[in-house]
Parts: sequence; structure tokens; C-alpha cells
Amino acid sequence: MNKQEAFFNHIEEGNTNKGEFITLGAAMLDGKTVKDAFVNVPLKTMNRHGLIAGATGTGKTKTLQVIAENLSEKGVPVILMDIKGDLSGLAKPSPGHAKIDERHEQIGLPFEAKGFPVEILTLSAQNGVRLRATISEFGPVLISRILDVTETQAGIISVIFKYCDDNKYPLLDLKDFKKILQYATNEGKEEFEEAYGRISTASTGAILRKIVEIEQQGGDLFFGEKSFDPQDLLRVDDNGRGYINIIRLTDIQDKPKLFSTFMLSLLAEIYSTFPEQGDTGRPELIMFIDEAHLIFNEASKALLNQIESIVKLIRSKGVGLYFVTQNPTDVPEAVLSQLGLKVQHALRAFTAKDRKAIKLTAQNYPDTEYYDTASVLTSLGTGEALVSALNEKGRPTPLAATMMRAPMSRMDILTDSELNYLLDNSKLVKKYNEEVDRESAYEMLNEKIEQAEAEELKEKAKKEKEALEKAESKSRSSSTRKSTRMNPIVKVLTSATFIRSVFGILTKVMKK
Ligand SMILES: Nc1ncnc2c1ncn2[C@@H]1O[C@H](COP(=O)(O)OP(=O)(O)OP(=O)(O)O)[C@@H](O)[C@H]1O
Ligand SMILES: [Mg+2]
Repeated sequence: MNKQEAFFNHIEEGNTNKGEFITLGAAMLDGKTVKDAFVNVPLKTMNRHGLIAGATGTGKTKTLQVIAENLSEKGVPVILMDIKGDLSGLAKPSPGHAKIDERHEQIGLPFEAKGFPVEILTLSAQNGVRLRATISEFGPVLISRILDVTETQAGIISVIFKYCDDNKYPLLDLKDFKKILQYATNEGKEEFEEAYGRISTASTGAILRKIVEIEQQGGDLFFGEKSFDPQDLLRVDDNGRGYINIIRLTDIQDKPKLFSTFMLSLLAEIYSTFPEQGDTGRPELIMFIDEAHLIFNEASKALLNQIESIVKLIRSKGVGLYFVTQNPTDVPEAVLSQLGLKVQHALRAFTAKDRKAIKLTAQNYPDTEYYDTASVLTSLGTGEALVSALNEKGRPTPLAATMMRAPMSRMDILTDSELNYLLDNSKLVKKYNEEVDRESAYEMLNEKIEQAEAEELKEKAKKEKEALEKAESKSRSSSTRKSTRMNPIVKVLTSATFIRSVFGILTKVMKK
């Protein structure tokens, strides 16, 4: 048996599955594609997370597209974080290309052009299904992590949540949250002090400044109702294909705080609402995070810890997370060590630092007698990648330099009219895009403050009246004493109320 045959057998044996799987492409040996040496990923281990990495322009996003559409075809719904805005084409079939045919000829797979069921979602005012969450859904712990506040400030946030719970004030948006923080050190100061101890203005001031930061990144659009139900991400169309939910985040690059807030809230919400999955042999939902360094770069230590533990826990809910980024080192070690599928596109060796990174990356792949991993990493072409997955038993599949299959859908975006058509026909747009601002903490506290002020005014007026009467009776007695009697008309005219009523009577008389 020659090397090529041995390689073919090695790949075939390592990629045979009992259950369902998706095919990424065919393995390559010495730079040549070995026809029919398919590289497969079993659905069973796709909740074990993954990484798609590689230098710019090497094919990461197309790999994401390929995996997403193949999952959809198997009935698995998908979420894509579309940072560059280059994924909407998934809804339309590929126009095809001679190069695509050539690629598929080498792989040994027929090429089929297809569009997929797509839903477009947004965090901002862009076109798409509006994704929102309420402050109370976040809970005090998560909000504190997101705002990156001190222990003391986190304590205050807990008290604020408790107060709102006790008094049934819904905390929906940032307006509510700010109002209650101000209330706690102003009008409601005594009430708070009595029930929960003193709250310092310095602390609430610091929290308010953090909220403003989130607000400036568009948080006011994100926090509020109608809050998104993550179950709506699990839809399957009439043909049994999973929906591909594309979250448009093109305007998020300069808003890392909002992005990580959203990511964390979505993961936490999914974690808390999805049932524990038994051994179903397939994932419930797969989420791809393109340009993943954006969430990790700006995240605080506390937020990172939260992300790391959610990544660990969410697997049992049948949810797989796939990070797409240029350099694997963009992803924290604790997350990297949990990844089952690795698709590594070419890395560039320009600097000493690059070469070091390549060596490190190569060490993270299973040993193979067929490749010198480090040199393969720098010689892969566009749309080729080193793939290592987990087989159905959870063990690594043979490392394979892979000629990736081409996306069945369009490798470009939708036109405006195609996008509008899609949105006009979306059930979710109808469900979520109505603005609601129901009575919540902000309005209720304002009402409470107004009532208190009205009470106070009434009290004040009563006191003034009493004082006036007292003074009047005093002056009456003194004037009788002095016996310089005031002209009764003059006396009446001194009181403004009387002037008004006199005028009232006069106009009435004149009308008659
Ligand atoms: N699997 C594939 N099949 C066919 N063509 C591909 C494939 N992968 C990549 N290409 C070609 O390479 C180009 C670049 O791919 P892609 O946009 O996925 O790169 P990227 O790594 O995401 O780049 P960036 O870092 O700039 O986002 C594509 O426009 C396409 O022409
Ligand atoms: Mg890309």
C-alpha cells in the first residue's frame, strides 16, 4: 500500500460515523486534494464548541458559512454574529463559478446551489428583528459584571433590585435603572436608609457614570421591552431546515461594551431557559461569533470569568459556541482548552512573533505522521484549513489539511430589495418591532415623588394657613387694642384670594 492509499484509509477510518454528520471537504496530502477522503464532523460532538482561525482573507468566514448551511440542512438552527455584514447571502443560492466546480471536482462532492431560511436580527435601529432584554432579566449579578463595578457598588445594585422587587417596580430599561439610583439618594433617601442602610451618593454617582457609558454605546436601544425569547432562535422551517439567525452587528465594532453585554445576556438567558439535554446525538443550537477578539479584548476580568464558566456549562444544554478569529491566541486559554472542533486556516509568518505563534498553534494539534504541522500552517491556500474534530466517542479525528467545500449559498450580501423582502415576510419582525414603554420603575417612582411632593405642598399650605390665621387673630386683637380700625374694603383687598374671588363675582355680575 502506498502512502496515498494509507492516508486515504487513515482519513476514511477516522471520519466514519454511526450517527449524523456534516462534511467539510476532503483531506489533502502533500498539497494535493485526495478525492473522496471526506473530512466529517459528527453532529453528536458539535456542542463541544470550536474555533475557526486564520490570517485575513484565508477563508474563515466562508468556513463559517459552510458549517452553518450544512447544520441548517440537518435541521439544526444556527446563530451568526455578523460583524462585517457579509453573511446575509446565506438566504440566496450561489450563482456558481468555474472555480467552485473545480474545487468540488477535486473533493468528490457534487455542488448544489441553495438558499437557506434566514432571519435577520439587530441590536440597534438597523433593519431587522429587534433584540432587547430588560434590566430585571439580567439580575443584579450580571449587571454588576457588565458595568464592571466595585464590590460596594455591586452591593448597592443588589439592594436596588431588592427594593424594586419588594415594591413591585418593574426595572425594564436604563431610564428605570437611573431613576431608582437617583431616588435612593434623593427623595427616597430616608426610606432606603431605614430599610437597607445608608447608600452613598458617591457610589450611586459612580454606577450612574458606568450606565452612561453603556448608554452611549446604544444600550438605551437594547435594554427594554419587548424582550426577546431565545426559543425563537430554535425555529425549523417547513422543510425541516434549521433557521439561520443572522445578528447584524456591523455598527458594533466601536461598541465593545454593548457587544459583550449582549453576548453575555444571550448566553445567560439560553443557559437559564433551555432544558438540560440528554444524549440526543445532535446539538440544539450552534452559535458562531465572528471577529471574536472583540468580546475578549475589552472584557473585564469578571466578565471573562463569567464567559468562561458559561462556555463550560452551556454545552449540557446542547448549545455549541464557535469562535472565529485571526489568531487562536485572541481566545483566552480557559476557553481554548474546551474546544472540540478546530479549523485552522493559513497563518502568516512575517515576524519572529508570528513564527512563535505558529509553533505554539502547531503544538495544539494532534500528532500526525503525514504532516509537519507548522509548515502546513503557512502553506495552506485560500479555502483550505487544518481540521481536527472530535469523533462520536469524543476522541480527536485524524488531523487533516482540508480542501473546504464551497458555500451552497451566495458568497456575498443581499441587495436592499432582497433584504426588505425578507424582513417584510418575517414573523419575528412582526412580533418584536413594536415599541413598548409600559409603566415601569421610572414612571412609578415619578408618580410616587409627585405624590409625596403634593402631600408636602398640602402640608405646607395647611401650616401656612394656620400661621396666617394665628397672625390674623393676633393682629385683630392688637388692632382692637389700638382701636385704629381698618377700612373693611382695604382688609378684604389685602388677601390675594379675595381679590380673585371679587373679580370672579364682578365678572359674573357684569355678565348678567
Ligand atoms: N470554502 C471556500 N470555497 C470557495 N471560495 C472560498 C472558500 N473560502 C474562501 N474562499 C474565497 O476566499 C475569499 C476570502 O474568504 P473569507 O471572506 O472567508 O476570508 P476571511 O478569513 O473571513 O477574511 P477576513 O479576515 O478578512 O474576514 C472569499 O471571498 C472566497 O472567494
Ligand atoms: Mg471574515
